[in-house]
Amino acid sequence: MSNSLLKGKRGIIFGALDPQSIAWKVALRAHEEGAQFVLSNAPVALRLGAINQLAEQCNAKVIGADATSNADLEALFTQSMEVLGGKIDFVLHSIGMSPNVRKNKPYTDLDYDFYHKTLDISAMSLHRVLQSAMKLDAISEWGSVVALTYIAAQRVFPDYNDMADAKSMLESIARSYGYHYGKAKKVRVNTISQSPTKTTAGQGVKGFDNFYNYADALSPLGNAPAEACADYCVTLFSDLTKHVTMQNLFHDGGFSYTGVSQEVMEKMFPST
Ligand SMILES: NC(=O)c1ccc[n+]([C@@H]2O[C@H](COP(=O)([O-])OP(=O)(O)OC[C@H]3O[C@@H](n4cnc5c(N)ncnc54)[C@H](O)[C@@H]3O)[C@@H](O)[C@H]2O)c1
Repeated sequence: MSNSLLKGKRGIIFGALDPQSIAWKVALRAHEEGAQFVLSNAPVALRLGAINQLAEQCNAKVIGADATSNADLEALFTQSMEVLGGKIDFVLHSIGMSPNVRKNKPYTDLDYDFYHKTLDISAMSLHRVLQSAMKLDAISEWGSVVALTYIAAQRVFPDYNDMADAKSMLESIARSYGYHYGKAKKVRVNTISQSPTKTTAGQGVKGFDNFYNYADALSPLGNAPAEACADYCVTLFSDLTKHVTMQNLFHDGGFSYTGVSQEVMEKMFPST
């Protein structure tokens, strides 16, 4: 159902890889709500080709950008403003990758070149996006930037590995840049801390399925699906949340504030 919440708004959506991607669902919802946007992903992801199908559905242009390249990001903002006919009102940063996780390197035996890459791709890229946009004055006043994160930034989930460090940094960048961009241009910057979600990045984490089921059993509302995350992103892009900034917002069915649930207790200590 559309409420035209994003009618007249222009955006950039990073990170739609395949129909499971959270960014893919956000693009579909934003389109439904009347937004016009550019879809972006790393050149290597574009070669897989699925994004073109989404672009057709959303009447969007695809512009490649490696989120670790300032030149790519500046070109992306410049071209997006041309294609969309004005400044950008919302940006979704839905980007994450850890070579250490991919190569099964444990947290106590990290490869440091990989570690740099994890932090650059998954965290510093948010700073690069914001700095590129600010230099070009590419985001309109009251514009909204949302990045996706995970609760491993606050609490230990051992197999989340160096991505936990990246998420802590990502959330810190959202706060710090949110201050500066808010002061300068009234641009808001927030992170959404999403439940475990069955996507390519999510399922790359060791033991994901058990972990997904555990989170589902602990959360009073169950895990928040990707479609609901897309709804939440739309509210943050809209004018209904104009004074929300520098926040880490949990979208997790109540997981973050639950100590234990009946279901989890029953599994661990079945009543006789
Ligand atoms: N899936 C989950 O359980 C979960 C939970 C909380 C938060 N998140 C976060 O949501 C975001 C989106 O992940 P997803 O679960 O939809 O998985 P996904 O694999 O569909 O998306 C990750 C995206 O990052 C892109 N990417 C990787 N390197 C890049 C680079 N150098 N430049 C530009 N893009 C690059 C990939 O191409 C891909 O599109 C990530 O930040 C992830 O950490 C996921």
